[in-house]
Amino acid sequence: MLLDKIKETTAFLEEKGMTKPEFGLILGSGLGDLADDIDEAIVVDYSEIPNWGESTVVGHAGKLVYGKLSGRYVLALQGRFHFYEGNPLETVTFPVRIMKALGCQGVIVTNAAGGIGYGPGTLMTITDHINMTGENPLIGPNLEEFGPRFPDMSDAYTKAYREVAHKVAKNLGMTLENGVYLGVAGPTYETPAEIRAYKLMGAHAVGMSTVPEVIVATHSGLKVLGISAITNYAAGFQSELNHDEVVEVTTRIKDQFKNLIKSILVEL
Ligand code: HPA
Repeated sequence: MLLDKIKETTAFLEEKGMTKPEFGLILGSGLGDLADDIDEAIVVDYSEIPNWGESTVVGHAGKLVYGKLSGRYVLALQGRFHFYEGNPLETVTFPVRIMKALGCQGVIVTNAAGGIGYGPGTLMTITDHINMTGENPLIGPNLEEFGPRFPDMSDAYTKAYREVAHKVAKNLGMTLENGVYLGVAGPTYETPAEIRAYKLMGAHAVGMSTVPEVIVATHSGLKVLGISAITNYAAGFQSELNHDEVVEVTTRIKDQFKNLIKSILVEL
């Protein structure tokens, strides 16, 4: 049962010394090396953790890193699980359950996304999302210990956290936009017709992650800050899409991005 797995994994990680995280960090494509800046780090390979998924990220073992970042205790996922890799959503969102069980008050979720309107290099706080994955990680028996059967998604992306993010960005002289993230299953990029439809639906960014994790975070009462790094114009707004461009743009902006997250952590 899921609850038994959560208890087993929580006990294992507490035993490793991961005892009092305040914030969970879920780091998106190309943004994972923020975890390298964590002080007093306790690092555990995903392969050692009971009930944990297997990372398929090329050239990346997949590590859970606990320690201090900007003076706050964080639990960071270096390598997240995606639905398109074939992981069940229970696996994709299991780390969020563990963040809650270990005592986190909030999670910072980051991703690379295609821009609908916004262009490459834009950083955007997520104000809300549209779930187009066709799935929901809460389907199945409800974990009453964590939250209700029918969670309210009205305020999934915590307003107070967004306000902090904007204040910090302003102090750093950085431009930070706001927008709605539309989550798809992937792994194909969207068609131009899909993007035209998503634009009409009110989306500003599209990507293949985040939505399942935020649903589970909201279910268990975790506060959420979501930030998208726009790496390309979505399909139809530029001539072609490829992963190399996503990597190239995240590499270019990651120092700025890391600086923003670290400065936000001080203020949360
Ligand atoms: N679509 C979906 N996911 C993405 C994109 C995109 O254009 N860019 C980066 N991740």
